[in-house]
Amino acid sequence: MVFSRALPVPDALDALQPISRVRVWAGDRPPTDAQLADLCRSAHALVCMATDRIDGALIRKAKSLRVVVNYAVGHDNIDLEALTSAGIAAGYTPGVLTETTADLTWALILAVARRIVEASAFVRHGDWERVSYDLFLGQDLQGATLGVVGLGAIGQAVARRARGFRMRVVYTGRETRPIWGARRLPLDELLRVADVVTLHTPLTPETTGLIGEQELGLMKSTAVLINASRGKVVDQAALTRALEAGRIGGAGLDVTADEPIDPNDPLLRLPNCIVLPHIGSATLAARRRMARLVVDNVRAGLAGERLPACLNPEIYEPAHQPGGVTRA
Ligand code: DGY
Repeated sequence: MVFSRALPVPDALDALQPISRVRVWAGDRPPTDAQLADLCRSAHALVCMATDRIDGALIRKAKSLRVVVNYAVGHDNIDLEALTSAGIAAGYTPGVLTETTADLTWALILAVARRIVEASAFVRHGDWERVSYDLFLGQDLQGATLGVVGLGAIGQAVARRARGFRMRVVYTGRETRPIWGARRLPLDELLRVADVVTLHTPLTPETTGLIGEQELGLMKSTAVLINASRGKVVDQAALTRALEAGRIGGAGLDVTADEPIDPNDPLLRLPNCIVLPHIGSATLAARRRMARLVVDNVRAGLAGERLPACLNPEIYEPAHQPGGVTRA
């Protein structure tokens, strides 16, 4: 069994060592595609991160793989069709990081709306003496409108917290039941009315570049855009232009189109933009819950049992069982 990175919770390794020899990628940086393929060459199980690309090319080299488990709930990095047709079970970590990621989303909303990072930098720079009442003027959240794009589990947890701030909530998404008085709107209308737009859609071909030049152009000039889903949901070049020109108020990003973001990216020079290194699930408690689910998934996969959190349950259908479809 191989891990593409050490987990921050060593007991996950301890739990798996009795059932299989474990190798952990030891590089300071994530493995490249070639290094990952090499690591997986004779492995039966792979635990990978949301930034590792798991595709047909890797699977063709990793002939012994039976189970791949993503240490994340998002799984746009995994070519599920390729895994399914190879009869490999794919697991992930849903449900256990929902509230943690919703908290981080609110940390970004508050930080951008109240200019926390800029104000903190001002103090650290020794400038407090220059403070005046017209500096760091932010925005009230009370009475403002939160627009949630994608009302899945994390989107709902974010929307639920808005009640404490007495915000109106509008949303787009498949959910049609009335939720806490939240109003479902088409995306363009949501963008026009929301003071804070927060993105919680998975990355799919339909959501890639969902927020581009035109969509940013619909937003209020004071609006805040938050992205704690996947970087490519936003056209980053268009967002940079909108922020530079003051066409929207600010942005808080836990994710970027390329991760890590280039240290010279112009977004990092903008005072009205906060960029975090994809830390939505980064609490010890959440990472522990994720690790537990990883362990349960790997154990089940190696034992040939159904994964408790499975992305491709169709592999348990007769066509994918021994004697059914064979591996490419
Ligand atoms: C995930 O698990 O997909 C999230 O991006 C964590 O922040």
